[in-house]
Amino acid sequence: MYLYQKQRRYFAQVTGGLEELAIDELKELGGYGFQPSYRGVFFCAESKNLYKIVYKSRIITRVLAPLVQFKISDDKTLYGKAKSIRWSDFLNQSRSFRIFANIAHSEIKHSQYAAQVLKDAIVDQLREKTGERPSVDLKSPDVVINLYIHNNKATISLDLSGESLHKRKYRKINTIAPMQETLAAAIVRAAKWDGETPLYDPMCGSGTILCEALMHYCKIPAAHYKDKFGFMYLPEYHEEDWLFVKKLADDQIRELPQNLVFGSDSSPEAIKAAGENLNTFYQGISVNLKVSPFQNLKNLSNYTIMTNPPYGYRMGNESELQLTYKIFGDFLKNECKNSLAYVYCGNRELIKFIGLRTSFKMPMKNGDLDGRLLKFELY
Ligand SMILES: C[S@@+](CC[C@H](N)C(=O)[O-])C[C@H]1O[C@@H](n2cnc3c(N)ncnc32)[C@H](O)[C@@H]1O
Repeated sequence: MYLYQKQRRYFAQVTGGLEELAIDELKELGGYGFQPSYRGVFFCAESKNLYKIVYKSRIITRVLAPLVQFKISDDKTLYGKAKSIRWSDFLNQSRSFRIFANIAHSEIKHSQYAAQVLKDAIVDQLREKTGERPSVDLKSPDVVINLYIHNNKATISLDLSGESLHKRKYRKINTIAPMQETLAAAIVRAAKWDGETPLYDPMCGSGTILCEALMHYCKIPAAHYKDKFGFMYLPEYHEEDWLFVKKLADDQIRELPQNLVFGSDSSPEAIKAAGENLNTFYQGISVNLKVSPFQNLKNLSNYTIMTNPPYGYRMGNESELQLTYKIFGDFLKNECKNSLAYVYCGNRELIKFIGLRTSFKMPMKNGDLDGRLLKFELY
């Protein structure tokens, strides 16, 4: 029996700072027995709920099912232990695979090398058994295997998501500083936005917050546009259960009312990208977009403002940005009365230039950036 079969315990990979929000979401989707850990949360779930979690979670990046765990000192141990797994439970010659390896504080230093050793063990075993070898596919593999080595303890897991869950398939054009989809979803969740007030992103860039807000309001499952998931390669995968879970979720999809979601940006290219991304959804037509600097927007009272101003590392110049943050603070104070504003700031040095009192400051990472989500209650 594999570890996940014995314990019904899985690992949800989560970006730093989103753990609590992820636990909250997992609870809603039927997870239990949470144990926060480095870069994620262990949780338990019955199989239907597991499918639901992979299909609907907006905040989790990957869901892993641990197969084996062992102490490791060198590549021979890794090769030997990897060969003790019956890989034909998951792979055959018609299924392609790929390995993701992540290593920290261990005798084995190079993740590429460790991934190669694991790959050799898998291929050798299947070739010895069946005379055939499964192919490696780095772009669109069926089976994704995860190797994690930390303090000389290795865990080999099957990735139940397959492709990373942050890839929702709505991103058509890459702009300069798009926000990670899971982070934008976490902001919508942290704001508890439920469509009672209109939502406005005055620096919407490629529209990630708008897309996530639309998906949230319209109850579109986060993985709605994907057709292949890692859990389909589990030996106990039950297709009827999956189709049941999917139908139940898809049946809840609803319209987006007019004049509920708005976005603007000073850059015409950004608005073009946002329009194309939103076009993925038939509800996207109801999102109001325009090219405008936020300085020209008037009277956004009783709104939920959600935005991610430029932060200097990838775009803009720091002293110019200090002024932009000050002017943005004035805009919130003067034009957004009785609104709530959620501002994700990738550069903490700039926060003070907004010049308004925050009701909370939530640490949230965007890739390597240790940013903060700020909440302002405007009167
Ligand atoms: C960090 S990016 C936002 C990224 C966005 N969240 C996304 O996922 O694509 C900041 C955006 O602010 C816009 N911007 C900068 N100054 C602005 C201003 N004065 N008025 C409106 N938009 C502005 C930039 O064009 C850029 O698209």
